[in-house]
Amino acid sequence: MKFGVCYYPEHWPESRWLIDVQLMREAGIDIVRIGEFAWSKMEPQYDVYDWEWLDRAIDVLGRAGLQVVLGTPTATPPVWLSRAHPDILRVDADELQRDHGTRRHYCPNSTTYRAYSRRIVRAMAERYGTHPHVIGWQIDNEFGGGKTARCYCPNCVTAFSAWLAARYKSIETLNEAWGAVFWSQSYAGFDEIRPPHAGVNYKNPSQVLDFYRFSAESYVAYQQEQIDILRDLAPNHFITHNFMGLYRDLDQHALAKALDFATWDAYPTGFPERWRNFLYAPDADFSRNDPVYAYDVGEPVMINMAHALTRGLKQQPFWIMEQQCGHINWAGLNPQARRGTVRLWTWQSVAAGADVIVFFRWRSTLFAHEQYHSGLLRHDGSTDVGYADLLAMQAERRLFDVVTSEPHSAEIALLFDWDDLWALELQPHRTGFDLMRHLFVYYRALERMGVPVDLVSYRNDLSRYKMLIAPTLHVADALKIAAVTDAVEQGATLLLGVRSGFKTPSNLVTDQPLPGALSDLAGVMIVTWESLPPGVEWAVTSPIAGLSGAASYWMERIRPKNDTEILATYLDLPKPDNAALTCRSLGAGSVLYLGWYPTHEQATSLLQALMQEKGIRPIAELPEGVHASRRGQQLILLNFTDSHHTVKVGKDQIVIAPRDVRVISAPV
Ligand code: GAL
Repeated sequence: MKFGVCYYPEHWPESRWLIDVQLMREAGIDIVRIGEFAWSKMEPQYDVYDWEWLDRAIDVLGRAGLQVVLGTPTATPPVWLSRAHPDILRVDADELQRDHGTRRHYCPNSTTYRAYSRRIVRAMAERYGTHPHVIGWQIDNEFGGGKTARCYCPNCVTAFSAWLAARYKSIETLNEAWGAVFWSQSYAGFDEIRPPHAGVNYKNPSQVLDFYRFSAESYVAYQQEQIDILRDLAPNHFITHNFMGLYRDLDQHALAKALDFATWDAYPTGFPERWRNFLYAPDADFSRNDPVYAYDVGEPVMINMAHALTRGLKQQPFWIMEQQCGHINWAGLNPQARRGTVRLWTWQSVAAGADVIVFFRWRSTLFAHEQYHSGLLRHDGSTDVGYADLLAMQAERRLFDVVTSEPHSAEIALLFDWDDLWALELQPHRTGFDLMRHLFVYYRALERMGVPVDLVSYRNDLSRYKMLIAPTLHVADALKIAAVTDAVEQGATLLLGVRSGFKTPSNLVTDQPLPGALSDLAGVMIVTWESLPPGVEWAVTSPIAGLSGAASYWMERIRPKNDTEILATYLDLPKPDNAALTCRSLGAGSVLYLGWYPTHEQATSLLQALMQEKGIRPIAELPEGVHASRRGQQLILLNFTDSHHTVKVGKDQIVIAPRDVRVISAPV
């Protein structure tokens, strides 16, 4: 297991570098990421390169035994480029053109920008592609960060038309696929179509979904150009990108495909504040984290779900490319970490499947946007709380090695798909209906029970799971249906939820009885569906312990077909259209359809029943605020509270101190 740090040598006098690397070595740092925002230092004028400072920086780091990860600097084009070629600047949905002075202000579809981006990457790779101190590359930085996933500039107008022409071949096919006859939207040629910018108020969801797909593919193509150059000139280096956890606007699976492994930037006190809005029920109190947790640890359930998503991108171990190591500067509330919290986050990441932890950042900056962000060192160069934790963790290096040598594994997977996420986001039909939130109901229930769970795409390997949960398989494409059908036939239990099978791949409503193309697989027909206002409930009864009660939020009346079993019914509705939960056996497995949107408690009860049937057991009995993870034989217990807790593991009682970690060797 390795530790790393994000370093900006260009921000500090060279006389300081030697002191910095010495402090890095003393704290057990092995890897340093540099360069990702330094284009104007590398190429201060067009075609005038200055590599000497970077040569010296890599040399100083390398001679101290540190390995270097280079970031390609394309998130921050230099000003000469923006002024000479304003067509590289992105345009937001409201037609505002972004300008120099920030980052990520480029358009990935600008052919000019693409050419310059290839040039700088080639120049870097020619210089460092076989450098003995360099081990790998991070492409760009956080694709989509700062609301930059979708661009509406003239380059994108042209590229979107071309993308549509390639997808639909004829304009008649597009008109049909989009239902363009509605409100006289029909087009006579692809060049008449524009990206759905803010000037179009009631947008066509088929057009918007295609634009989202196009935007996602634009970044994949843009990234691939850099990958091709690096594969050619740096054949022995790894290539990765730093993702943003539960970030929604780009297809992370498609981006991860050509990378060697995925990484993400984990900010446990920052992201929960953003994500709470689409993960917890819409009426939840957003003012602070669940009070069971200590005030400075963030919200571990949400962060663990982001770990799960990143782990699922390639179903492999991953890195944390930026691990928060003190307070951050960009949330509403930015508490400083107390002693022990950075260690807790580090173990949390490792427990979830990370093998390398790179801290952000080395030293607090004296200038520009991130002045209030902490690093391992303070502004004045003295060591800060994260550094102290890192020093303390050196005593645990062997234990980290033991844990990271084992795989993270789960018997249950939540199924996730970007089309489903985006289509529901476009037409939630009920305040707060969101695929991530629906997944989170199950994620949270499993996490709180101490049951490992993966979050994967339908395109991943599903054969390794005993249970699959697809809360809303909304856009029913053939690949997704084939993937789940196959898994069920091989023995998996599949739980499908409301609004499944509703849409076609071009985001039209199916003309078949619901759940459309999933109707045969699930052995059900949905007779009616309702988006329920707050307080409106349907009484439900079920032999499954804890499941009886009320269906709220969203309900569907199910008519079971032939041999489909009924596991819950709506009390006040007549047969045969009163089923609320059904189960159909298929091959070696079974398919359940849950007709309402469950509460946390109902999801917990249903999962407990299904787990019992499949022989899936929680890792340990967990008190509230204590989380557990397993890597092979190693059980990792993490206490996110300010109190002592006792955890029962088998016959043992394990006491765990506030914000502390216990690693226990516990053969499965
Ligand atoms: C990340 C970004 C870093 C830095 C950090 C601050 O999103 O990649 O460059 O800005 O946030 O928390």
